[in-house]
Formats: sequence, structure tokens, C-alpha cells
Amino acid sequence: MDKQTEIAVDVGGGKGEYFLRRALAEPQKVFVVLDPQIEQIPDKPDNLFLVKWKSDKDVDLPIKPNSVDEVNISMLMGELITRDVSDANNVPEHLRKEFTQFRRILRDTKNMLKSDGIVTIVEPRGNMNYVLRLLTDEGYKVIKPASKVEDKNRSAFVGMFFDFYQHNPRIKKNEETSIIIPLEVKAQVIK
Ligand SMILES: C[S@@+](CC[C@H](N)C(=O)[O-])C[C@H]1O[C@@H](n2cnc3c(N)ncnc32)[C@H](O)[C@@H]1O
Repeated sequence: MDKQTEIAVDVGGGKGEYFLRRALAEPQKVFVVLDPQIEQIPDKPDNLFLVKWKSDKDVDLPIKPNSVDEVNISMLMGELITRDVSDANNVPEHLRKEFTQFRRILRDTKNMLKSDGIVTIVEPRGNMNYVLRLLTDEGYKVIKPASKVEDKNRSAFVGMFFDFYQHNPRIKKNEETSIIIPLEVKAQVIK
């Protein structure tokens, strides 16, 4: 691999549809999807790698330190902790293990990113306080504040959340306040 080749990693990237699109659009970059439920995509481009991997509180990300330009973490927090995360400063006892897992991923992400590398985190608005707190705790600098994801089909779960918001009659329709709407925040590592 050429030393200049940029590398992007999607942690908990699901079936990899977001990185498949990116890999086709940016053939000069390498894209790696990590997920425990990975399925191989027939005829995937050569610059897309799908790797079976599952985080746990003691499990490292399987990528070399200081080698990655960009990390994507989309809709992963809800898998690791409950969705009831309204008070970012007061994590209930029963959530601590899972919360630790997300923190651990951010720590390892920092380790694998190059010194000017960027992490993009997508989470429903209801989880964003947690994300911002963890980013600060773990030594990241927010470079793009949390804002609504513009591409409603960015990934499978982003699409599902926008759909749910749109079609559930019980949800009060206000995209600027709803806790369901997926937001995106970008942060840079401080090394
Ligand atoms: C809600 S889905 C989000 C998938 C994708 N990122 C998206 O935005 O559509 C969460 C993903 O996290 C993966 N996952 C669950 N537990 C995980 C773990 N411990 N480590 C890594 N990935 C995990 C699941 O397999 C699933 O694909």
C-alpha cells in the first residue's frame, strides 16, 4: 500500500453501506468496516475491507496506532448503552460497563488516528450530551458542532431513525428539538 494512501475506519459500521458508497466514490482511499455482524458484499471494490470485530471493555481496536485519517462511529452508543441517557453527568450504576465500552472505543480511536485525524460521530440528539462529554473527557477538540445529519440515507440506522420520526404519529414533529433526529459531530484528536 502506498504510504500516502488515506485510511478511513467505520467502527460498528453494520453492513457497510455508507463505506461502500464512499469506497466507490473515493477509489484512492482505503475504507475498513469493523462489525461483529459483518457480511461480505459480493463484488465489493478492492479498497473496501469488511472485518468481523466486536468491542468489549478490554478489547482493542485491531488497527495500528497513528495510521488512520478518519474514523466514523454511527449509531453505536444505543447498542452499548440504554437509550435513556438524558443526564450525561450522572451515569447510573447499571450503565457503567456499557458506558465504559464507548469510552474505550473513543480512546482506541484516538490511538489509531494520525495527529490531525478526525472522528465523526452520529447519534440521535438524545445521546449527544453523552458524546460531547466523552469527547472532552478523552481529549478531542470539537471542530464541527453537533448538527442534523443532512443525508437522511447516510446509513441504514440513520435512515431508520428519520423514517421512524417521520411516520410515527405519536412523535411531535420538530426536527430542531426531537431526541430521535440523528446529529453529526466532528472532532479532531489532540496529541
Ligand atoms: C445501530 S447499528 C448501526 C450500524 C451503522 N453504523 C449505521 O449507522 O447504520 C449498531 C451496529 O453496532 C454493531 N455492534 C454492536 N455491538 C458492537 C460491539 N460491541 N462492537 C462493535 N460493533 C458492535 C452491531 O452489529 C450493529 O451493526
